[in-house]
Amino acid sequence: DFMGELKGIHVLRERLKEKLSLDKVIIVPGNSDGQEWVKQEMGKACIAYLKSIITANNTIAVTGGSTIAAVADVMTPLNKEEDYLFVPARGALGEKVENQATRIAEEMAKKSRGNYSLLYVPDPLSEAAYKSLMEEPSIQAIVSKIKQADIVLHGVGDALKMANRRKTPQHILDKLKENEAISEAFGYYFDQDGNTVYRVRTVGLHLHDLNEIGHVVTIAGGQSKAKAIASYFEAGKSDLLITDEACAREILEG
Ligand code: G3H
Repeated sequence: DFMGELKGIHVLRERLKEKLSLDKVIIVPGNSDGQEWVKQEMGKACIAYLKSIITANNTIAVTGGSTIAAVADVMTPLNKEEDYLFVPARGALGEKVENQATRIAEEMAKKSRGNYSLLYVPDPLSEAAYKSLMEEPSIQAIVSKIKQADIVLHGVGDALKMANRRKTPQHILDKLKENEAISEAFGYYFDQDGNTVYRVRTVGLHLHDLNEIGHVVTIAGGQSKAKAIASYFEAGKSDLLITDEACAREILEG
């Protein structure tokens, strides 16, 4: 019954907070593996939270991926008179355009009636190109905005699934397998203890920058992401995890 189900989710939430040492967890019913609409339910929860925390002139940095794209799908005006700015958290990571952070930041800004600033960097990026790009004043200006973000909305992926979805060269795929990469976020690949196994060379937010950011929101669900989420929380800072019931159960019992 409905009341029993609510109570079940409440118990799951308390156990998950303890397991991942998190202050805040939101669990929506369902399993985003195979149920695309569950990503939008996580998106609605994210927007409600955003409305409760956003203040004047906030900068919101967003990552790519289909989950954060689903947040953009359901974005609504944030009902504030004040200005706020959406930016991509990182340059492109090899994703198709629909899943790229720049496209998602632009859609969120338009639907929420905010502003956006984009980051156009080639993808993939050579060491030499990276160094010279970082000397461009226009790139420096946007990167400094990104690093000073007040709110970050980010996804977490299964390492090998992400690497295969992106244009990842074979020798890097081999390295990820060899070093038992489990999760990916912000272009960093982590093993089960949260060690960085590999990092995609692109500009923007680095993992250590998260410590300076007031509200880091992790949005990731689906039973198949349980191991990846547990691995990410060994490495990265987060203030809130928004997930789904199937994933929560798998993290706790899988
Ligand atoms: O960084 C993580 C991935 O972008 C997550 O992608 O939301 O499509 O699973 P996904």
